[in-house]
Amino acid sequence: MTQRVAIIGGGKIGEALLAGLIRSGRPVTELVVAERFADRAAELNAEYAVRVTDIADAVDGAAVVVLAVKPADVDAVLDQIADVEDTGETERLLVSLVAGLPTRHYEDALPAGAPVVRVMPNTPMLVNEAMSAVCPGRYADAAHVATVVALLEPVGRVVEIGEKQMDAVTALSGSGPAYVFLMAEALIDAGVGLGLTRAMATELAAQTIRGAGVLLTDSGLSPVDLRAAVTSPAGTTAEAIRKLEANGFRHGFYEALRANVKASVGLARAQGGSSRSGSVGTDDED
Ligand SMILES: NC(=O)c1ccc[n+]([C@@H]2O[C@H](COP(=O)([O-])OP(=O)(O)OC[C@H]3O[C@@H](n4cnc5c(N)ncnc54)[C@H](OP(=O)(O)O)[C@@H]3O)[C@@H](O)[C@H]2O)c1
Repeated sequence: MTQRVAIIGGGKIGEALLAGLIRSGRPVTELVVAERFADRAAELNAEYAVRVTDIADAVDGAAVVVLAVKPADVDAVLDQIADVEDTGETERLLVSLVAGLPTRHYEDALPAGAPVVRVMPNTPMLVNEAMSAVCPGRYADAAHVATVVALLEPVGRVVEIGEKQMDAVTALSGSGPAYVFLMAEALIDAGVGLGLTRAMATELAAQTIRGAGVLLTDSGLSPVDLRAAVTSPAGTTAEAIRKLEANGFRHGFYEALRANVKASVGLARAQGGSSRSGSVGTDDED
């Protein structure tokens, strides 16, 4: 039975998945990419020796079709996928990595009963450190979810969630790497302001974020405990944290994640889909 995986969209997240699957030992002959931009297609083929083709060819006979295009391109892609007659012997599972659009959006566009699993990954997939959350659509069963978990586990951690939580997950871990990189920029600029060279400030910030991340995932301690361990009474860290809190650090994250959820809801509305697949945390519109 073929286990061919077709990745539709060879952009940042499509490439991250492709590279991770190859690194984890999946034969490249089991992978195919559909990418419409010819230069990008040639680049992916040269880098990974993967077959890059059009959507109809990629989807034909694939057991798993992974959507990795921008939300605005989804409907055009779904039209093409729905037109492909299934010549393979396996059922085709659609896996969407796209932010914002609920599983129902795909189910409505595909033949009745098509299994759909939605995933929110993030870009540390490039280094096998993704945080991916998966949720099944109406016609996806435990075996479909297990197929997707097995696909993603080689490239990071995977959790199963309800679709109501998907926009919140997008706001936290989907976009999360960008917040951390922004924090790195801010730390570096502040270090430069204190007289460090940019190169030195960058090395200090990057390794600090990496080391703190490993402590957080591996020590078994809560962030509160870990922070307390570097905050001595009336010390330098306590003073710095007081300033961060006074300048809206924590409140800034509340507001940022709420704005992110609102943007997801907006994406679904713009696609004419059943907006708010039950999004949490957007009760007051501002
Ligand atoms: N980047 C992240 O951190 C992240 C995290 C989680 C989820 N996601 C989700 O992943 C999806 C992709 O994001 P991305 O950052 O990877 O975007 P991206 O870099 O713009 O990649 C999308 C790719 O799909 C291609 N494409 C669009 N329509 C196509 C078609 N009809 N046939 C073949 N290829 C087509 C695009 O080609 P063109 O260049 O010609 O447009 C582009 O190469 C988004 O829905 C996003 O919500 C991204």
